[in-house]
Amino acid sequence: MERNKKQERYQRLYDQVEGLMAKSKNELSRMATVNALLHHKMKDFFWTGFYLLQKDGRLCVGPYQGPVACQELAKNTGVCWAAINDQRPVIVGDVNQFPGHITCDSRSKSEIALPVRDRSGNIFGVLDIDSNVYANFDDTDASELTKLLTLITV
Ligand code: SME
Repeated sequence: MERNKKQERYQRLYDQVEGLMAKSKNELSRMATVNALLHHKMKDFFWTGFYLLQKDGRLCVGPYQGPVACQELAKNTGVCWAAINDQRPVIVGDVNQFPGHITCDSRSKSEIALPVRDRSGNIFGVLDIDSNVYANFDDTDASELTKLLTLITV
């Protein structure tokens, strides 16, 4: 998608999410709402969801939309763990080229994973989005999604 068009779509989404967030202070409800909007409004989002860090250090699936996914991700492996360990968004144009990529569904071709932080800046999970087309994500997605994620924490 063209950069400007993508940015406009994210802006509309941000405004919509902002309005909806006022209705709940529950973070899980907020994540589910953001997730549903992203999945249905953005182009070629094949799987959209959160993985959440547990008290014992495991990374387990949270609210998501799309095909059934891995419930737990092997520690320090794959794209989601890379986003947590590197503390930054990770963009993968071709999942087959990413060492250690965890395949939950072979139809996924490209992916973006972003750390989700609480108000103190501590990472408590990741937003992970898979696309069924190659190279679906770029810096615009990384910056716009990072902005959107600030609306989750209360
Ligand atoms: N590919 C991810 C695993 C989660 S699924 O894509 C839904 C990873 O490598 O961390």
